Amino acid sequence: MLVPTDHILQEARRRGYAVGAFNVYTLEGIRAVVSAAESSLSPAILQVLPAALDVGTPLIAAGLEAARHSAVPMSVHLDHCDVPLTIEIALKAGVSSVMADGSALALEDNLVFTSRMVRLAASMGRTVEAELGRLTGDEDGITVDKRNASLTDPVQAADFVSATGVHALAVCIGNVHGTYHEPPQLDFDRLSAIAENVSIPLVLHGTSGLPDAMIARAVALGVSKFNVNTELRTACLKAGRAYLTGSDKPELAERMRIEISAMVQPVRVKIACFGSEGKAA
Ligand code: G3H
Ligand code: ZN
Repeated sequence: MLVPTDHILQEARRRGYAVGAFNVYTLEGIRAVVSAAESSLSPAILQVLPAALDVGTPLIAAGLEAARHSAVPMSVHLDHCDVPLTIEIALKAGVSSVMADGSALALEDNLVFTSRMVRLAASMGRTVEAELGRLTGDEDGITVDKRNASLTDPVQAADFVSATGVHALAVCIGNVHGTYHEPPQLDFDRLSAIAENVSIPLVLHGTSGLPDAMIARAVALGVSKFNVNTELRTACLKAGRAYLTGSDKPELAERMRIEISAMVQPVRVKIACFGSEGKAA
């Protein structure tokens, strides 16, 4: 069933588990996430990146339709967007929530941008995730190096949340988008201080490659949403490539089936790790 992202996150926060928000690029991705969430009896969030809107809003429509027909609570979220018009288009297309990502802006500008997007989303009954601090790494061709990254300040986080009225906050505590080129080092003291200061659901990006024990610790300290992209994308590409190179007469429908099943397993593993398995029972 399609439910507001905020309901999913508030419920997770109240019951002490986290929910996976999985980036989907294709119908196969959507099918894999729905199927893994249903078989795990877990809520889940389908998220699309702004690039999906280059061809209009059919991926959003497909995600919404899949969520509506799913046996577990699901929502559709626009991930990492800093363009007000794109956010508006996604909201009009029906997304349950958006990430208004002003993390590249100066603090004051991030505050103005986020507040504006909160008002826009609220006028349609939807909610907003913001980011304070800046993540390193790569996502959809956007690279942020260490020099331009910064960690979330716990005091600033409290002020930012109350000034903007934002509904969920993505924190930067050493997490990285894409591949961790060095062993991940998360600043759990910082996360704990942020969680003490802020009473909205916290979000951790860059989940691919994080050891299970770190994920569990982040959940215990108050993270309610984990964003997962690279592990799914890699599983899909690897399975698709292996099928195409190994088959004399590849069929598109078969490739789609193989890609779906390749993505189901990593989603199920992450759901178990987040502690949301069985929570939709
Ligand atoms: O917004 C999406 C993510 O933060 C995903 O990060 O590709 O490292 O899993 P990841
Ligand atoms: Zn992210």
